[in-house]
Parts: sequence; C-alpha cells; structure tokens
Amino acid sequence: MESFALPTVSYTDGEIDTNPSATPTLNSLIEQRYSRRTTLRGGVNAAAIAVFGGGLLAGCDEDTTNGEPALSVVAGSSGATSGGRVVTLNGTATGAQVTAQSFTQTSGPAVTLSGANSGATTFIAPAVASATTLGFRYTATNGSGLISQADTTVTINPPALGFTAVAKNRNDVVTVPAGYTVNVLYRMGDPLAANVPAYRNDGTDTNFAQRAGDHGDALYYYGLSASGGRDDNSSTRGLLVMNHENITEQYLHANGPTAPGGIRPEGEVTIEIDLHGVSIVEVSRAASGAWSYVQNSPFNRRITPNTPMAINGPARGSALLRTAFSPTGVAGRGTINNCANGVTPWGTNLTCEENWAGYFRRPSSDNALRSAKEVVALARYGVGSSTGNYGWSTVVPADPANTIFRKWDARVTGSDATQDYRNEPNQYGWVVEIDPYDPASTPRKRTALGRMNHEGAWPGNFVAGVRPAWYMGCDAQNEYVYKFVSATPWATADAQSATRLAIGDKYLDAGTLYVARFNADGTGEWLPLVFGQGNVTSTNPAYAFADQADVLVHARLAADAQGATPMDRPEWTAVNPVTGEMYLTLTNNANRRVPGDTVSASQRVVDAANPRVYTDAPSTARGNRNGHILRLREQGDTTEALRFTWDIYAFGAGSDLDATNVNLSGLTADNDFSSPDGLWFGRPTNASGQVTPLLWVQTDDGAFTDVTNNQMLVGMPGRVGDGGTRTVTNTNASGVTSTVVTRIGAAPGTQLRRFLVGPIGCEITGVDSTPDGRTLFVNIQHPGEGGTLANITSNWPASQTGPAVGSRPRSATVVITKNDGGVVGL
Ligand code: FEO
Ligand code: CA
Ligand code: CA
Ligand code: CA
Repeated sequence: MESFALPTVSYTDGEIDTNPSATPTLNSLIEQRYSRRTTLRGGVNAAAIAVFGGGLLAGCDEDTTNGEPALSVVAGSSGATSGGRVVTLNGTATGAQVTAQSFTQTSGPAVTLSGANSGATTFIAPAVASATTLGFRYTATNGSGLISQADTTVTINPPALGFTAVAKNRNDVVTVPAGYTVNVLYRMGDPLAANVPAYRNDGTDTNFAQRAGDHGDALYYYGLSASGGRDDNSSTRGLLVMNHENITEQYLHANGPTAPGGIRPEGEVTIEIDLHGVSIVEVSRAASGAWSYVQNSPFNRRITPNTPMAINGPARGSALLRTAFSPTGVAGRGTINNCANGVTPWGTNLTCEENWAGYFRRPSSDNALRSAKEVVALARYGVGSSTGNYGWSTVVPADPANTIFRKWDARVTGSDATQDYRNEPNQYGWVVEIDPYDPASTPRKRTALGRMNHEGAWPGNFVAGVRPAWYMGCDAQNEYVYKFVSATPWATADAQSATRLAIGDKYLDAGTLYVARFNADGTGEWLPLVFGQGNVTSTNPAYAFADQADVLVHARLAADAQGATPMDRPEWTAVNPVTGEMYLTLTNNANRRVPGDTVSASQRVVDAANPRVYTDAPSTARGNRNGHILRLREQGDTTEALRFTWDIYAFGAGSDLDATNVNLSGLTADNDFSSPDGLWFGRPTNASGQVTPLLWVQTDDGAFTDVTNNQMLVGMPGRVGDGGTRTVTNTNASGVTSTVVTRIGAAPGTQLRRFLVGPIGCEITGVDSTPDGRTLFVNIQHPGEGGTLANITSNWPASQTGPAVGSRPRSATVVITKNDGGVVGL
C-alpha cells in the first residue's frame, strides 16, 4: 500500500501569463478542496459520478490575495472494473490556468500509474481475489501556486474473461474478438540478417539459414533491456525463440519439389533442411504500439538440422550415440521437428524433437544387419521409412565430404557405428536447451529427460529448496506422459546467473525420469525409469536394458516395462502458475477401441483416463475423434511427488454431438472444439496468470474442419476434483455397448470461450505474451496445407489485409493486442 503525502509544491514564476501576482504564501499554495468529481473511462465505464462534500484544510485560504482566481478541481469519484483491465482517471481543473496536475495512489494494492503527472493517468487493474478498493488523489496547481485536490476510488473485482466469443468460421483470415487487433509480425522466409533480400515467395529465394523457418510452432518471449541485456520484465523489446517443426514442401520451390523417388537436387533439399529447426529473432514495440521484428539484430540466429550440438547427461558418450560425425557420442548436428517447448527460470529455452523418426531412410532390409535388440528398439520408435521424409538422403552433394544429406540414411553400411549413420536416429528425440541470449552458444541435448516423440517439456512451479520437475508428452497414439524430476533442489539465486547453460547442467543433467500410470479411481503414480528398478533390468523379456543410457535412449521401452498408461496422443503440457496443477492435451486417437472390438497390436481399449470411442460425421472413423484435456494435481502439491490425482478438464466435441457420451463437458457454439494441442497458461507476471490464471487452448484438427478452421480458446479453469464421476457408454464395432467410468471436472460453461479462428488449412500452434500480458504472440502454422501450386487453397498471411489471389501461403507469427491496451483475454 502506498501512503499518501501532500505533494511538495515548488513555486514556478513567470511562466503563466494569467498569473501576475507576487509570490504566494505557503498557505495560499495549499488549497484542499474535496468537493469535486472524477470521470473514469477506458477499460472501465465510469459508474456513478459523485460530488464530494466541500471542506478546506485548516489554515488554508481559498481566496487569494491580489485577485488570483480560485482553482476549482473536478476529479474522480468512483468506478468498478476487474483485474487486467485498463483504468483511466481524468482530473479536470477549472477557474484558472493550471500549471501542474498529478495523480497519486492513496490506498489499495500498489499500481503503476502512467502519465501520473497530467490530468489523465492510466493503470492496469491488478488481479485480486475479492473486490478491493483503490484510492487516488488528483492535485492541480495554478500559476500562483494554489493547489486544489480531489480524491477518487476504483473498486477492482477478480479477473474475468473480457470478450465475446468469436464465431466458428472457414474464412481465410485470423479472426479475433471485437475490441482486439491482429497484425502479422514474422513470416516464413523473412530475412534475419541485413544483407539478406526480402522474400519473394515465388520459389526462387535462397539463403534459408538466414531466414525465418517454416511451420512456426511453440514460441517464447525473452525480454531484453534497452542496452541489450536480459530483462525478464521488458514488455517492449525481446527475443522470440520459435520452433520450426516442418515444411509445406509444395510452396517452397518454383515449380514444386522434384518428383519423389529419384535423386533430389542439392539446392532444393538445402532449402528444406534449413527451414527446419529454431529461430531466435529480436522483436520490439514502437512508441506507437506497433510491433516489428529487427532484421539486423545481432541476436538473430537460426538453429537448423545442421547446427553443432552437445550431447549432455547420462547418455553422453554412450555407444548408442556414436556416429561417423561423432565417434565418441558426445556431439551431434542439429535438431529437427521441433514442436512444443519448455522454459527454465534461468533464461533458457527447451526445444523438443517430436516426429524425427520419419526423416530417416531405413528400409526393412536393414533389419538383417541389426541385432535383435536394435530391431526391437527401431520398431518401437518407428524408424522404418523406405526413403525418409522428402528423400533428403538421396542428394549427391557437390562436395563429396559433405555428410549433411548422408546422415539421413540410417542403414548399416560400414564396419561399425563410427563408419556410418546407423545411430543417427538415436541423436534425435531429445529435449534441447538453447541460450537465446548467447548467439554463439552450442545447444545441449539433455538426455536425462529421455528420448521419445517429445512434444514439450513444461516446468512445474519452482519452489526454493524443492527439486523442480518438467512434464512431457510423447505424441503418438497410445504413448505416455513423463515427468523429469531434477536431482538438484532449486536455488533461486541461479535464476539470474550469467552462465545459463552451466545452470542447465546443474538441474537437467541428473535426476529421475518417471512415466505416469492413471488409475480408474482418479489417482495415479509416477513410475521411475531407472536401470535396475522394477522391470527396467537386463532380464526384462521385451528388451534387455544394458545401463541407464540404454534406458534413456529407449524411454518408451522402459515405460512399457513399468506399466505406464497408454494415452490418446499426449501433446502439450501446461502448469497453472497459481495451483501448480498440470494440464495435458490428449489430441485424439484413432487407435482407441472398446471391449469386444478386434484390438490390433497398436490399439488399446478405453480406460478411465481415455474413455471415449465414437464417430464424428462426416468421417466414419472410430476412436477418440475430438480429444480431451486432462489435468493432474501432485500429492502435497509438490513437483517431487510420486502420486497424484487427476480428472478431465474438458472433452472436445462439436456441440451437436451426443451430450451423454460424447459432448461430456457440455460445450456450446461458443466453445466447441476438437483436437486440442497447444496449451499455455498466462504468465504470472500479469493478471492473466494470477488468482485464476487463463488457460489458452489451441487446436490441430481434421475432424471438425468441416465446421470451422482451427482455433484458439481461452478458459478460466477450476481445480482437479471440482466435478465428479461420469459413466460413458461406448458402442463396439458389432453394436454392443459397454460402459467406463471417468473423472470429469466441472463443466467449463462460459468460463471457456473461442478467442481466435485461423485461416484455411492451418493449425494454431505457439502462444506466449509479453510479461505485462498486453501483447500476445501466436503462431499460425501451415495455412493452405492441403493445396498445391495449381490449386493454392489459402493466401494467408497476404489475405489478412485484403484480396491476395495467387499469393503462396506462409506460416507466420501474429501479434494480438486489446485496443484499449488491457491484458489480452481479460
Ligand atoms: Fe507437433 Fe504433436 O504436434
Ligand atoms: Ca462433425
Ligand atoms: Ca503440436
Ligand atoms: Ca498435433
């Protein structure tokens, strides 16, 4: 709370031509008049305008000597709003030329007043748990030094969603709610260095290692100070660290890619490789409020599938990681299919390698050259493409010593693993730590977090003295949810260390990897993946583990051995910054079945945590068609817990679907969704991440696109256990029904709303905000994905601002702001 003190008044002479008087006395400088009014406007509408009763401070003389007119002040009375919204206080002084005006706060939680030394000041209403009154004082001074003051109060209510839901649509633009503005910030191909020409977008561009990558996915904003140092509080200048998951190949080359099956040109493949990976790009906000990226920033960096990497953690140096490039298994080149992400409090980014397996050429003929264990492992990770995605390894490079194409061929061709790239697939599937503030740093693959189809690695809330954890989904049908718990209790002094990757070594290279088992009664357990514990041993029948490096390289096999619960495709994780509860998107699962179905080796039957099998017209496919969002609460609310409770926050479904067995969360036209993927809570540095934090949900869907393009919703969820149990009736392929009891949270109702709909053919991917929550960054990935050069199906982002027929679509990052400057979503 700010205590109020009378302002210090300095006499200013000669500046005001209506003030011919002699120097006033101190008494005449102080006029307190409480009989005025304030108007409030902006994010709040002025409520009652009260007229305060008059009264002069004892000893003050309202009437001036020598004819100076009295100063009459009109200032505020009262108004009400809610956390995160903009409040403007207007003060009006009449009766004399005013030489100075100011506002100060007199009571309530401290807020930052901008323009405080004027007749209008604004602030962002703080997040409060219950209605709270803030007091302010307006002071005006005239040329004689006469002072008049008036008080006003503003009542702040807890944060609430502050927009009308966007309607579902299939337009070729990004749609945001009324009162919001969307602008395109950073597009695939945009140059990242001063000498790189603007992107022509006609298939003739080059130098993609210095351009924005394709398929922007997860992103995170890292603040920069005016002098270019790390500043976690800066909301006007920062670095976006962004994953570039994949490519829309048909739009990259002048006449489309060379036909598959043959030898691919080095030039085309170089472009395709360079468009993968990560970009680090400086962005800044002008005084006008407009955001732009900084083309020539020294921080700009592309990390590609060719960038040198260090292998860290328990698998460093393992025979499983040795290749012709790295005969000792301590280094590697590049990162690929970077999907979701994670962060650390010491200012680094965790990029996660998801669908890497398909990039490798390894036809079935290679099995004969592998050990039985290798065949099991390669099959479990799906390394079995006859060509590899896009046929990169077919390139015959101009420089025979160049192995950046050759490494995508994972066949056994040499006398041992240091003579070929048979182990190159083992170099991917990791969480990779990047220091965005040091463009020269070498990213480190953190093998302690296990190897899988890493979707993301979001941290639990950090508590001093407690071992921190990161939650991770493995995105494939019937795969698992993992947690890494560091061996090192958190020391808050490490947050601002200048040696960020060394702090990463401290927390991310030693610890315990766990996998989740979800029980039908709403409890669950974290099962350790530690060599020698449980079934993770050299006598495990499915796969005989050799050591902890083998366990981590083959975390899926270790999770199988421990009896983890197969899930409906675990995508992103997010952690509520207030409660610490972890949310997980389970995007959909075409390989979920019910009792009585024929169940193949790759299929699983329903259970309490994955309870639905149904169809969603027009498709006739069965399974969990629309996905759901699960959440869990750790026992004792600590990241170190080995047990938890869980429920389902929301089941995806069209609002037209069966309310008893499919649309279990009662979604309506304002919030029905399918295939949740991206997931993120508002940052705790602003009202969207405090008290009742906002949960942002993004979709990557093909089941609901007959109704709407992919979308982003925002909700204000409750807590695990705020609902109850529900019995779901499923029907098998023979028409026989069976039931499963699940745990479902309270229906979201109007506390979940559609905030954005994307353009045609896109999915909505990354999302983050500035620390103040007033600028939201969102990635629009692969617009026009289903089209061809002959039939371009989206012209976005060019279409965002007008007709753009013929323009090739580009993945791009948009900036969303609230027109009145408030916290986005509130
Ligand atoms: Fe790259 Fe699981 O989405
Ligand atoms: Ca439908
Ligand atoms: Ca994803
Ligand atoms: Ca997805």
